[in-house]
Amino acid sequence: MDKSKFLNQNIRNDFPILSKKILEKNNLIYFDTAASSQKPNTVINETNDFYQNHYSNVSRGVHTLSVESTFRYEDARKKVQKFINAKSENEIIFTKSATEGINLIAQTFYEKYMQKGDEVILSLMEHHSNLIPWFFLRDKYGVVIKFAKINQYGEIDYNHFESLFTDKTKIVSLTHLSNVFGTELDKKAIKICNDKKVPILLDGCQSAAHLKIDVQQLECDFFVFSGHKTYGPAGIGVLYGVEELLSEMPPYQGGGGMIGEVSLEGASYADLPAKYEAGTPPLVEAHGLGVAIDYMNNIGIEKIIAHETELTKYAFNKLNELDFVEMHGGENNRNSIISFNLKNVHSHEVSSFLDVEGIAIRAGHHCCQPLMKHLGVNSTARLSFGIYNTVDEVDKFIEALHKCKEFFNK
Ligand SMILES: Cc1ncc(COP(=O)(O)O)c(C=O)c1O
Repeated sequence: MDKSKFLNQNIRNDFPILSKKILEKNNLIYFDTAASSQKPNTVINETNDFYQNHYSNVSRGVHTLSVESTFRYEDARKKVQKFINAKSENEIIFTKSATEGINLIAQTFYEKYMQKGDEVILSLMEHHSNLIPWFFLRDKYGVVIKFAKINQYGEIDYNHFESLFTDKTKIVSLTHLSNVFGTELDKKAIKICNDKKVPILLDGCQSAAHLKIDVQQLECDFFVFSGHKTYGPAGIGVLYGVEELLSEMPPYQGGGGMIGEVSLEGASYADLPAKYEAGTPPLVEAHGLGVAIDYMNNIGIEKIIAHETELTKYAFNKLNELDFVEMHGGENNRNSIISFNLKNVHSHEVSSFLDVEGIAIRAGHHCCQPLMKHLGVNSTARLSFGIYNTVDEVDKFIEALHKCKEFFNK
């Protein structure tokens, strides 16, 4: 273990929830950041301040509060643009979640570029949010979905992936970092798509706060993530899309804010990004996400990655030594997420036992039922780390896991 790679744990003081006692006795150990991250004081305080001192609707009025709110909302867009290194602010669409972003792309991309019989490529390890929007296209319009196989390490089988392309393949949508294995998508998947001139959407829900994201360097066409998994508020998501595609695709929802001109006979639509932001947007949440981005930048993304990689390695090795634990996926190419099962104990029982010890982990199918079927399990237990987690917490978790095994094997 390289101790120099770990973040200064004063960071924990930034997160008020970490001083909570679970069941009034145990210190909280929060290993469920992949489901949703905890929020630093700066995000909590800044969102309060927005409501207390600046709040009004955006892009509508000319009075002081409306201008202040609009400034904050658009400033958040600039921060997101820089954070993922998009070329233009027009390429940043605020949604309510990553899920909404994927639905938006599936619907509008189909409308512009696809027809019955056209094909979409996904993988076996996609989250339901990156399955169901495409299933809708299959059910409603006769689109064909193909699934790339994965290997035993939780990585896409790239030979199989490449073999799935035909003249009818119109779009590919893959997880950038698996929410079950923590494995990162290899850039070669994107290269294959680029070589074949097929647009690729990356589901960045699990990568946005745990990897350095540069959409230009990645050469992806679309990228989505959720604010609540990146130390920001719930209710805000980001959809990035290259301007050439987004400007050609039709609007998703209709309403205020997305129009050019309206008469009783019809309407013209606003330019990007407003075209995709119908209705009053989650403006305070967008501001909160901007504050969360500042917070991560102040710590340093490289430092965050080093910390989480080292912690993940440490936890993986500790778990892997235990003969009563079955690991899912391999040791390498893994970031911040580990899935496992205790032999003969259901993951819900493991999670409930650990909860009494103050340890929050996720148990279940992780919204990846087809993947669970592929693994031959109905659920897994999942550890997922954030900037606030420590080696000491991992040690306490391993101790508690021993107790859990004893308890259920009595
Ligand atoms: C890989 C992945 N994709 C999509 C989602 C959906 O995110 P949200 O519910 O924030 O839209 C999640 C959330 O767990 C996820 O882990």
